Amino acid sequence: MTAYDLARGLHILAVIAWMAGLLFLPRLYAYDAEQGGKSEPLKSEMQALLRAWQTRLLRIIVNPAMILAWGFGLWLIHIDVSARGWAFLAEPWMIAKLAGVFLLSGWHGFLAAERRRIAAGTSTKSGRFWRMTNEIPFLLAIVMVLSVTTEWALRG
Ligand code: HEM
Repeated sequence: MTAYDLARGLHILAVIAWMAGLLFLPRLYAYDAEQGGKSEPLKSEMQALLRAWQTRLLRIIVNPAMILAWGFGLWLIHIDVSARGWAFLAEPWMIAKLAGVFLLSGWHGFLAAERRRIAAGTSTKSGRFWRMTNEIPFLLAIVMVLSVTTEWALRG
């Protein structure tokens, strides 16, 4: 077993946890936004429960998983640079991968900011908005996974 094999296994595990959290968090936001039609005290009780779950999911799973995915990803870059120099970072497949990584990290940042707005009661997003944007992480994952597994421009 090489350090590279270990790093990519740990990278994939961290990515699975990060993706799972990013796919579930907007569901909790959608349920929260859709409590409007309920009467009190059910509405407040449901929102308090959903907001506790949102905070816990973000703090216990999503944030640590992002840090680990980044950490193991940067370790992989370090190993790749030692093995084949810096040039691979400018290959189209790696640019596509990194573009996906930055977009996913930006989406994560937006979800974290929305959690704070939901908790403060200032979010303007609807349940429909959260259901429509729910697939963004998975669409980005398709680009990221296929770019690293094919390394298309390298193999022609
Ligand atoms: C968070 C920042 C990330 C960085 C810095 C990063 C970086 C890297 C690097 C350098 C490699 C090795 C590429 C190679 O040498 O072939 C790699 C592999 C991989 N990454 Fe990432 N990545 C990140 C996030 C992600 C995400 C979000 C996904 C999926 C949604 C992902 C999926 C993969 C997969 C499937 C591999 C292939 C592992 C293998 O070689 O079997 N990565 N990543």
